[in-house]
Amino acid sequence: MSQIATVRSPSNIAFIKYWGAKDLKKAIPVNPSISMTLDACYSRCSVEHLQDDSSEHEIFWRQGEGGFEEAPPAFAVRVRHHLDTLRQITGCGGRFRVATENSFPAAAGMASSASGFSALTLATLGALGIEMPVDQQSALARLSGSGSASRSVLGGYVEWPRSGPGQGGAEHYAFQLADAEAWPLANIIALVQTGPKDTSSLDGHRRARTSPYWRTRQRRLPSRLAAVRKAIEQRDFALLGPVVEAEAIDLHCVAMTSHPPVFYWQPATLTVLEAVRRLRADGVAAWSTMDAGANVHVICEPQDADAVAQCLQGLEGVERVMRDGVGGGPVREEEHLL
Ligand code: PMV
Repeated sequence: MSQIATVRSPSNIAFIKYWGAKDLKKAIPVNPSISMTLDACYSRCSVEHLQDDSSEHEIFWRQGEGGFEEAPPAFAVRVRHHLDTLRQITGCGGRFRVATENSFPAAAGMASSASGFSALTLATLGALGIEMPVDQQSALARLSGSGSASRSVLGGYVEWPRSGPGQGGAEHYAFQLADAEAWPLANIIALVQTGPKDTSSLDGHRRARTSPYWRTRQRRLPSRLAAVRKAIEQRDFALLGPVVEAEAIDLHCVAMTSHPPVFYWQPATLTVLEAVRRLRADGVAAWSTMDAGANVHVICEPQDADAVAQCLQGLEGVERVMRDGVGGGPVREEEHLL
């Protein structure tokens, strides 16, 4: 007897970033983060629960147009570890078969671990027939080690962490600030590097405190968090944009000045940043942000999305432009990958 469930879970782009952990294994962050859940960038994951535990979990993935194949060891280790955590927490026996794919380049700093581990967590709970409130789903996704996965279980605009009353670290979870319909922002993504990045975000978190700018960024965060919360509440793009871009630049300053340094940017990253500044000078309200990678997410209002996409399309070093926007969160699907 086996049970199978499939979940499509979106990626997210952080307006205020998670960078540096109090406990990296449990993904307990130093500072709260706020993100916009995406729509077109997602992971799809099927999980089958088998009663026998004669062998270990089987992990398959598909990249691009090819068929499913055994996932590479580094990725499979993280997935197995999370499945073991979920097995332990839910008290279920047996083992799992997993198949997963992304609608966008994996490990290129586009939060594929956020969408991937959110989808894995929700599909595993689905295969086990376990229902739980979304804050608990968020906390479980976080235990994958990808803290940003805790935000991908929700749609719209999301803040993490929130701690439950009187609870310790294990309960840190994300909550929704506003749903997708409340503020339909666009995100035009300039892909300048689609291969895997050199330094994982986990290593970036580990090194963050070694930067002399670590404290400076921490000092700036309370007012930035307050501004982003207010901007989302009041749908105030003029308030949001500058904070989001400044925060992304600060995060990369911390990364570049860490020991050893982490350079995520490519030359084309700077080309895109400059083009977005030129767009603003021409009256188009568009603001850049980057996660732990070279690709640039350009946030704008829907009426400016065409102008932004057109501008990014022709830039030297831009491989592809993806049009995305705020999305409604994970969905269960009936068609399975296994
Ligand atoms: O969740 P992680 O460990 O992959 O780290 C995410 C790091 C950033 O994408 C740079 C920031 C964020 O909050 O998403």
